[in-house]
Amino acid sequence: MTDILTAAAPAVSASSFGEKRLAARMERGARFLGSEVAIMAGAMSWVSERHLVSAMSNAGGFGVIACGAMTPALLDAEITATKAMTDKPFGVNLITMHPDLTALIEVCATHEVGHVVLAGGLPPKGSLEAIKASGAKAICFAPTLALGKKLVRSGVDALVIEGMEAGGHIGPVSTSVLAQEMLPELAEAVPVFVAGGIGRGEAIAGYLDMGAAGVQLGTRFVCASESIAHANFKKAFIRASARDAVASVQLDPRLPVIPVRALKNAGGELFTARQREVAQALDEGSVAMVEAQLQIEHYWAGALRRAVIDGDVEHGSVMAGQSVGMVTKEEPIAEIIATLMAEAAQAFEKRAG
Ligand SMILES: Cc1cc2nc3c(=O)[nH]c(=O)nc-3n(C[C@H](O)[C@H](O)[C@H](O)COP(=O)(O)O)c2cc1C
Repeated sequence: MTDILTAAAPAVSASSFGEKRLAARMERGARFLGSEVAIMAGAMSWVSERHLVSAMSNAGGFGVIACGAMTPALLDAEITATKAMTDKPFGVNLITMHPDLTALIEVCATHEVGHVVLAGGLPPKGSLEAIKASGAKAICFAPTLALGKKLVRSGVDALVIEGMEAGGHIGPVSTSVLAQEMLPELAEAVPVFVAGGIGRGEAIAGYLDMGAAGVQLGTRFVCASESIAHANFKKAFIRASARDAVASVQLDPRLPVIPVRALKNAGGELFTARQREVAQALDEGSVAMVEAQLQIEHYWAGALRRAVIDGDVEHGSVMAGQSVGMVTKEEPIAEIIATLMAEAAQAFEKRAG
């Protein structure tokens, strides 16, 4: 940790109170992850592949592969490639509604992946048990306090609580409220990682002081030099401010829209127009309900890939959290970690003064 701190933060001496307090507050989370610092780079579909994940873990943090819609064979190849680039621990994020979830868990087990994160809903029956039987630690998202307690009773090893400031699919409650509701009740039982809207180390220090074992950031890492995101995607992040990262809006109660936070663009406006058209078609009886709902559900299919990989930031989905305004340049991930750690250490230092 000393190396990371001193690399970018001459203002905090290696033995400062702030640095020691930070190390102490992160100790449990770092031990759980097997990393130097208790900062996870949350899995981001198309972005969190071998390059970003290995760079994150090599920098002392904890990288997580986003499996997304990958087949078991593709995940197998991605884990193999990541292992070739780092000998540090990293995790794999699996989406619970993936039709091959069991096979994906087996792939992780074969590779002896140490941490499996289940995202996108509560873990289906048997999945937690399968992960734990492989010797891996199971990490789940807790959307509410009641479900967090239930997950702890089911044997989950750690929890992530993620507020609506985050990029990607979001719930309805802010990080600050979730942290106040959940940390006092859950943080003793299992390590809890706080996510959503974290752009600077002062916020990390705050959540650690509230009982978090560590934090998870996504948006802040998209413009890492090691990230393979298209130059247009990175440019859009660097230009954007917090208010450009908006949640998708559902126009009609008959046509459910899963809220996603992304940068405003033409694709978002067309989506609103499309919802209006489909709702009108429903009113006129020219389309059946199931077909109408599918049209809305499928509207964004492939849209994140179009933005991240192809660079179509006008019509693709530029998923980004509200912390995007704090992303100001492309820089190596080790520097991002060093900056966050220095800010957090200085925050602890100030509080002591
Ligand atoms: C471009 C992008 C893609 C994401 N994809 C996923 C995903 O595939 N699975 C997942 O669990 N979370 C996903 N997330 C959420 C991140 O893992 C992380 O929890 C979130 O970014 C943290 O909030 P922040 O963006 O405010 O830092 C994504 C976030 C972004 C910005």
